[in-house]
Amino acid sequence: MKKLLLTAGILIAGILSIHAQQQIVIQTPKTALVYTVTKEKKLEQVYFGEALLHTDEYNKIKPTPIDAFVQGDMSVVREPAIQVTHADGNPSVQLLFDNVSSEQPDNNTTITHITLKDPVYPFEETLHYKAYQAENVIEQWTTIKHTEKAAVTLNRYASAELQLKEQKYFLTHFYGDWGNEMRMEETPLPEGIHSIESKLGSRATNFDLPSFLLSINKPAEEETGEVIAGTLAWSGNFRLLFENVRYSEDFQDLLQIQPGINPYASAYQLNPNETFTTPSFIYTYTKNGKGQASRNLHAWALNYGIYHAKQHRQTLLNNWETTFFNFDEQKLNALFDDAKKLGVDLFLLDDGWFGNKYPRNNDNAGLGDWDANAKKLPNGISSLVNQAEAKGVKFGIWLEPEMVNPKSELYEKHPDWIIKLPNRPENLRRNQLVLDLTNPAVQEHVFGVVDKVMQLNKNIAYIKWDCNRYMSNTYSTYLGDKQGQLYVDYVRGLYNVLQKVRAQYPDLEMMLCSGGGGRAEYGGLKYFQEFWPSDNTDAISRIYIQWGYSYFFPAATICAHVTSWGKQSIKFRTDVASMGKLGFDIQVASLKPEELAYCQKAVANFGRLQNLIGFGSLYRLISPWQNNCSSLMYTDEQKNKAVLFAFNIQSRFADVYPKILLNGLDANKKYKVQEINLTNDNRPAYRQSGHVFSGDYLMKQGIEWYLNEALSSSVLELTAVQ
Ligand code: DGJ
Repeated sequence: MKKLLLTAGILIAGILSIHAQQQIVIQTPKTALVYTVTKEKKLEQVYFGEALLHTDEYNKIKPTPIDAFVQGDMSVVREPAIQVTHADGNPSVQLLFDNVSSEQPDNNTTITHITLKDPVYPFEETLHYKAYQAENVIEQWTTIKHTEKAAVTLNRYASAELQLKEQKYFLTHFYGDWGNEMRMEETPLPEGIHSIESKLGSRATNFDLPSFLLSINKPAEEETGEVIAGTLAWSGNFRLLFENVRYSEDFQDLLQIQPGINPYASAYQLNPNETFTTPSFIYTYTKNGKGQASRNLHAWALNYGIYHAKQHRQTLLNNWETTFFNFDEQKLNALFDDAKKLGVDLFLLDDGWFGNKYPRNNDNAGLGDWDANAKKLPNGISSLVNQAEAKGVKFGIWLEPEMVNPKSELYEKHPDWIIKLPNRPENLRRNQLVLDLTNPAVQEHVFGVVDKVMQLNKNIAYIKWDCNRYMSNTYSTYLGDKQGQLYVDYVRGLYNVLQKVRAQYPDLEMMLCSGGGGRAEYGGLKYFQEFWPSDNTDAISRIYIQWGYSYFFPAATICAHVTSWGKQSIKFRTDVASMGKLGFDIQVASLKPEELAYCQKAVANFGRLQNLIGFGSLYRLISPWQNNCSSLMYTDEQKNKAVLFAFNIQSRFADVYPKILLNGLDANKKYKVQEINLTNDNRPAYRQSGHVFSGDYLMKQGIEWYLNEALSSSVLELTAVQ
């Protein structure tokens, strides 16, 4: 028996029955994940890696000696991907293969569902796999349901399990802290269990990113080497677990990868007939290095992962670093003029505009009371929007609707809406507390905050959604004896609100911010076009931070503002910010005329090139982590246009520099290489600016490093000619 799905001659998901053993193939043109169903109805993984040419040859491979989705059956000695306590108290789960089905929603995707059932209890789990053909990406998640007499407790519920059997693994872990996001370190994966996780509740990251790179056998380079890039789309506690055992008679060389919600304090009571859906784990496998892995994920993100991913982004002037809480209508009016002068699309009003009984003049009061402060803004928000519009700039606004200061009317009115333990002192961070989004009334309230502000003036064109603390003292009055649901249901509550916001305001551009980069993950980006990567806006730091994010996120999502944090030239700062989604947060009045002229030019160039930068194919050419300089470039799909950024970060006497070997061009095309973003003297640093070279030359011979001064930068625009 043979049941295959074929598109354009390519096997994309197949179910084969060979020698009475059923084989399930989940496949993109480049990658295959293959399972077999044994005679005992166990699901075992046969293969994961580069797709074989002949599907029937998967049959020759010995499966891994363990369940494909390791079960907490109280006999297992490896980490279980699922572990539950049944309604009658039995703490074991056994899952046997029941059925598999595939569907093909469109020409690019196949979805395979494998259902496993407990032979004794009416309990089942379905493993879902969505294979994206053009992007070479697989998305996995699971659903769990049962019809037992009472709730079943889910103790562990990974989104996926991948098994590998190779000699060595090298894990790149992305980590950091406030102002120090996206440090990266590649280390050999040690024996035993290694886990990257967070317990922050209201955000996924800040310390560790729910994303990783895993090089196989040796550290992958940018364009060579075997690597998996994976990311979990979840805005709360996560765990990426790697169990790596080389020296074991039974499981030799077996690596299990289990990404999912962190089971910490999250034993979840699943009622009969309810379905528990885990977040998605999205990953790609390639033999062409970390660069290709990033391009695959970017392509997936731009086509499927990010809300309105290809929407035109509005450049902006933000007032956070220039005014903090200290502004009034007059000051803002001057900033509208500044935005106009810069040539950006929009002015973004940050924190500090609300609160009357408890004015928001610093971060210890007013959060939760979303009425404009009458002293600072006597004519209200709507009038501000009109004033900005009259000056030819659009208006955006900052909100942090999930949070509350104890000094607020909201806190006085709804103490039961706050996450805090009974009989314990309140635990403030940034003088604030988290609202309990597990409670539908709170969800309604949070949606109402956004809706009310948006109703003030239909021309509000942008929202920056902040979340400035993680959870502590974690307890929900609403959940009562079901505290195990808190971490999970908080995130689900947030997603409920965001779904409503999106239903109401589908085209609104929204930035996801969380005290810097606390929410850099794809669960949130389903509702936002972009995110705030870090409060650290020093241009040197940003070269590293943005480089780190670029492994997983396309440039259109990475907000980058020119500020006065770093003391580099305005050109250097603006060029760094132009590698992401350009914005400003700077005293425009203090710019010298030539600096302002530079910014205007850079804004215009960004306007022209934003699609190429934001949605193009990224090639990381020279890493700042290994050099005293850095360079990367973006190319368009047709390989007709490219833009290259180069930075001298720190030069010392007699330093040597690498050549810039370009990539992603068409070897057979000729390109005019023109330096843009020139300062007022109009002298290009790249002396051959304006010359024409073949793609072949630029990729083989490249460009000799030409920025010899510390803290200098250059932007080259390449255009195919003839
Ligand atoms: C943290 C954000 O990351 C900043 O950009 C700013 O919006 C502040 N919050 C405002 O409180």
